[in-house]
Amino acid sequence: MKKILVTGGAGYIGSHTVVELTEAGYEPIIVDNFSNSEERALEGIASILGHEVTCYRTDCNDAAALTDVFEKEQGIAGVIHFAAYKAVGESVAEPIKYYHNNIGSLTTLLQVMEKFQVNKLVFSSSCTVYGIPDQLPVTELTPVQKANSPYGNTKKICEEILTDLAVSGSDMRSIALRYFNPIGAHPSAKIGELPLGVPNNLVPFITQTAAGIRQELTIFGDDYDTPDGTCIRDYVHVVDLAKAHVVAVDRLISGKADNIEFFNVGTGTGNTVLEAVQAFERATGEKLNYKIGPRRPGDVPKIYADVTKATEVLGFKTTSTLEEAMQSAWDWQMHLQQTSSKA
Ligand code: UFG
Repeated sequence: MKKILVTGGAGYIGSHTVVELTEAGYEPIIVDNFSNSEERALEGIASILGHEVTCYRTDCNDAAALTDVFEKEQGIAGVIHFAAYKAVGESVAEPIKYYHNNIGSLTTLLQVMEKFQVNKLVFSSSCTVYGIPDQLPVTELTPVQKANSPYGNTKKICEEILTDLAVSGSDMRSIALRYFNPIGAHPSAKIGELPLGVPNNLVPFITQTAAGIRQELTIFGDDYDTPDGTCIRDYVHVVDLAKAHVVAVDRLISGKADNIEFFNVGTGTGNTVLEAVQAFERATGEKLNYKIGPRRPGDVPKIYADVTKATEVLGFKTTSTLEEAMQSAWDWQMHLQQTSSKA
């Protein structure tokens, strides 16, 4: 079984990817500093798989600790690098924290990988690199634009670092997956998103509102140039997204990948915020309390992916509908309520 190191493997997308990797016959090894994740993710993974997954409580900025992991786990075939801070608003308030953590962890990881001659990397990027695109849907050839937050800039800079490495003659092979909006949870409802405090993202805010934890959802603006005036996003089920990592790893392992490759990972369909709310209501039968508020500064009015490249090159395809994703997010919210009331 090929060992794949998964940094941030206890996080939202990381935990789902650990499950999919295992089911595809890989042996994931988790590295996580638990700064934005919880041990319960490991319990959820173990419960789904029927066995525990090796996990190191390690910070990717700590070269010595990361070196220890590579020494203990001989024969790592590749790495998926999720570990990063991801709150857009926080990154505006604390830019240095974001640059230090997100860029430092990648460069530290690359140095350790080089030392151990591990030369296959999947990197978590984001559609944020496209900024406010001139044309929709966005393809991988759509120009990358100036980032509108330090968080977005760290994704752009990390892609540039990997590009520089690719042209340097290094034997590193990297695939950067540009995620659109990941939502939902594992169908078992044993793992899912664990937002700390008030959620920034739409779907956890929806599920917490329906569960009575939040009073109401505010929809940020209904005066955009879209059919119902609310912003358009490409909401991709987190399990479909996790599977994109497996096929990216397959491609790297097969030796078919170029020095660096970029792929959009979305569904190819844009939905407005109101459509997302309606999909939640339809799927769950819950009535959502919401109001229209002012626009949120920095929001991209509309973006959705052209996924032709991922489909043709990786064989990636999504299988879940927006309703199914919403239902799974709701099942996960219910699971959280039940397990925290027992605690
Ligand atoms: N929204 C609301 N109310 C809320 C939360 C969100 O109306 O309480 C709206 C937003 O205005 C936006 C849509 O729901 O139109 C989606 O918002 P999210 O915050 O869930 O996601 P974003 O598209 O803003 O951000 C996501 C990732 C970022 C990434 C960005 C790239 O969370 O990490 O996509 O575009 F940088």
